[in-house]
Amino acid sequence: MITLGIETSCDETGVALFCSARGLIADALHSQMDLHSAYGGVVPEIASRDHIRMLLPLIQQVMSDADIERPDAIAYTAGPGLVGALMVGGGMANGLGLAWGCPVVPVHHMEGHLLAPMLEDEAPRFPFLALLVSGGHTMLIAVRGLGDYETLGTTLDDAAGEAFDKTAKLLGLGYPGGPLLAELAEDGDDTAYSFPRPMLNRPNFDFSFSGLKTAVMLEVKRIESSGALDLRRADIAASFQRAAVDTLVGKAVKAAKLHGMNRIVVAGGVGANRLLRKEMVKHFTGDVFYPRFEFCTDNGAMIAIAGAMRLADAEDAAEIRAVARWSLDTLDVPSLA
Ligand code: KG4
Ligand code: ZN
Repeated sequence: MITLGIETSCDETGVALFCSARGLIADALHSQMDLHSAYGGVVPEIASRDHIRMLLPLIQQVMSDADIERPDAIAYTAGPGLVGALMVGGGMANGLGLAWGCPVVPVHHMEGHLLAPMLEDEAPRFPFLALLVSGGHTMLIAVRGLGDYETLGTTLDDAAGEAFDKTAKLLGLGYPGGPLLAELAEDGDDTAYSFPRPMLNRPNFDFSFSGLKTAVMLEVKRIESSGALDLRRADIAASFQRAAVDTLVGKAVKAAKLHGMNRIVVAGGVGANRLLRKEMVKHFTGDVFYPRFEFCTDNGAMIAIAGAMRLADAEDAAEIRAVARWSLDTLDVPSLA
């Protein structure tokens, strides 16, 4: 069975074909990064328009790459995300589903992220602890089976990726800043500044990154006034990255131990961070799983595999679903009214 996956929740148009017998058979991604970078963040209207422009050509491309005329099912990201952008994917999925007479499965974007490592040869088995770290989310989830998710902790303010992006902006780097900051950090000394590890010693599994961001901002202002910022930027980046990674790893390892999980999955855009990957493996005695680098950030492959796994109990969608805020704990779809 071949499932077409469509991802349009934010600023990447992702399309892929997942075959239950052969695995991933085609995958295409168009990033809108250049369109949004001038604004320092994603502009929803521009995002929706560009998804409209790119989606059909990308679907045609993967069908031609895989040499198929139609898939057996379609999965699309129904939320959470930008509603206009989601509607583009939902509209296309439901239109094609009608035309092809195949089932259409709405997928939770974060479920896509947490199932992305299932695309790899060494896929995790259930149960596992998932650390989902992206531009919009920071979550620790006990994953006991498909659709059986318990959120153990989340961020009280900024998401991890947002903290990377905002800190990168303070350092004069472009958008999205996460990968640029990580690159700059490679030349820096991560012990140069002692930034806070927020909430690390609290007994719960929530995160907070705004204090860390403020600490970096105050330090940047202090150094700027002495005119030495250029010399210290790499050290600041490295010290910030170390503080953020220590917090994420510390909390995830503690949660896994408490909930008796011997597998951790790290997914979402920040999961591409090399220091995070290295430190998680170093500090966790169980097995650590990641998607390949390109499937950490938004992509169609994770939606295709999540849809394929969900298809057994999915109903044909009668309406187009596009949900801006959607709890992963209850995968009931809230009414759009
Ligand atoms: O999952 P994703 O592509 O989109 C959302 O659903 O938000 O995540 C994007 C986030 C951005 O904040 C980006 O800066 C961050 O992931 N990111 C990174 C790295 N690569 C992407 N953060 C730190 N280190 C990286 N290597
Ligand atoms: Zn994402």
